[in-house]
Amino acid sequence: MPAMNPSARYDGLSQFLHWAIVLLVLVLLVMGKVGLVDAEHPESAAFMWHGSLGVLVLVLVAARAIWRLRRPPPEFPSTMTRLGRIGARMMHASLYVLLIALPLSGWLAASSEGSNVNFFNVATLPRWGGSVTADRGSAAAPRTRAVAESAEGREDLAEEAHELLGDALIILASLHVLAALKHQFIDHDDLIRRMLPAVWPRTPGTRSTGG
Ligand code: HEM
Ligand code: HEM
Repeated sequence: MPAMNPSARYDGLSQFLHWAIVLLVLVLLVMGKVGLVDAEHPESAAFMWHGSLGVLVLVLVAARAIWRLRRPPPEFPSTMTRLGRIGARMMHASLYVLLIALPLSGWLAASSEGSNVNFFNVATLPRWGGSVTADRGSAAAPRTRAVAESAEGREDLAEEAHELLGDALIILASLHVLAALKHQFIDHDDLIRRMLPAVWPRTPGTRSTGG
């Protein structure tokens, strides 16, 4: 873990990356949960957008990770307890793990289904581990059927993992937002300004940690 910097708020690029990722993730979760995305219809616009925006999240998280090494996060406010700091660090690390695992599992689910991820119709990403799109019909020879069944098993597993990771993200991101609200309305430390531009007005009646 790199040393933290002594400033009171995240720098502009870190803030931009945080809010861009939040926006994309919300769109992706809604798309997934309302059933717009179906791996069996890789030609649909929804599939292209879901896959492309998902891969974009991966790119932005990689950019965030590199930038985080160059410009470490600001120090936690002195009012935060040791346990609170450990909890916040663990929460942020878990969120990053999910933000990496989700696009990868989605990509894997698409690959197992034999579908390519078409990045904004500009580039086609390679499929993971090739694909087996053997005929699943009952007339298939035993070996072909076994191959098809194992491919189907992998496909189900990848889809289930993707779904489970999505649910975990919904839970952890909700806790993260609740923590931000606790800081705002119970601790009154205006911590949210650390993730907002300096021109953002200070909330009246709070001890600002945001400079
Ligand atoms: C941060 C990135 C992503 C998030 C938050 C996300 C979220 C979701 C969610 C919530 C679902 C619905 C799961 C369910 O409850 O049934 C879903 C479905 C799906 N996602 Fe993603 N996804 C992401 C990235 C990707 C990527 C990069 C791909 C690659 C193409 C992808 C492919 C799929 C597919 C194929 C389904 C449908 C699975 C099925 O047919 O049941 N996702 N996604
Ligand atoms: C999908 C939703 C979200 C995700 C995945 C997410 C993820 C993250 C991550 C990974 C960090 C750590 C940043 C770093 O140190 O590199 C962070 C920090 C932060 N987030 Fe979020 N976030 C989400 C939504 C929100 C929302 C809606 C709010 C506002 C209510 C918020 C407020 C903050 C604040 C204030 C910090 C800085 C905490 C500190 O001062 O150390 N986040 N978020």
